[in-house]
Amino acid sequence: MSVAAQMVDIKKEYVLKSETVRALRGVSFTVPEGDYVAIMGPSGSGKSTLLNLLGCLDRPTFGSFYLGTDDVSKMNDDQLSHIRASRIGFVFQSYNLIQQLTVVENIEVPLYYQGRVNAASRKRCRELAQLVGLGQRLDHRPTQLSGGQQQRVAIARSLVNDPYFILADEATGNLDSVTTEEILALFERLNDEGRTIIMVTHEDEVAAHAKRVIRLRDGLLQSDIQNETRIHAKPKPRPPEPEMAH
Ligand SMILES: Nc1ncnc2c1ncn2[C@@H]1O[C@H](COP(=O)(O)OP(=O)(O)OP(=O)(O)O)[C@@H](O)[C@H]1O
Ligand SMILES: [Mg+2]
Repeated sequence: MSVAAQMVDIKKEYVLKSETVRALRGVSFTVPEGDYVAIMGPSGSGKSTLLNLLGCLDRPTFGSFYLGTDDVSKMNDDQLSHIRASRIGFVFQSYNLIQQLTVVENIEVPLYYQGRVNAASRKRCRELAQLVGLGQRLDHRPTQLSGGQQQRVAIARSLVNDPYFILADEATGNLDSVTTEEILALFERLNDEGRTIIMVTHEDEVAAHAKRVIRLRDGLLQSDIQNETRIHAKPKPRPPEPEMAH
């Protein structure tokens, strides 16, 4: 089985003037390809710190972090930002779309920064828009989309690089319960197709959809369990949307 991410005895310390904060105090876990993990824990337990490490936004103080077979904890800043831009798919609570760009152009943004935009990439971005159910919205801008549709754009964008995993940070935090269920159904479908998903969430109802739940407490793994009572997302049917006038 291939490994998407592996953390080995990861410690993260923040050195302040008066004290050292030990935000992660020796965390180890492996995420095989195809896993669907929810990371939970109380405020201050180290979730954001862990997310920043998984997203290659920061390096651990001690320990090794492998993406595939590469040890990211040994990389310099340039290597880190390259791997972050090219091999991690980020999905944020606030979507982080560029308002002036269309759906397809937003999906293409990660490629643009790498100078990899061409006719083939444009075609792939259109296919990704279709994959997330936005085939009829290719030329719309974010303000013309609902929150759930905007998050679909962000999810399509996260896939454009063929990432090691999708890293979702409270991805449904801004969405109502019906839209949350739709986004969770999309994650489940992508996961069924082999995509690896790691999401941080405060909500038990969201975490209940993951295959596995990791709980942090005081910078340590409190538990790491397979979710035997996993809930499968069942989006409620919506009435068909009226076509927008152009
Ligand atoms: N840049 C920093 N400098 C100093 N201490 C930090 C820094 N970032 C986080 N910490 C500390 O590390 C610990 C873990 O913080 P972290 O942000 O990872 O928690 P969290 O689980 O994401 O909490 P929340 O649910 O409130 O977002 C906390 O004690 C926090 O105060
Ligand atoms: Mg946090």
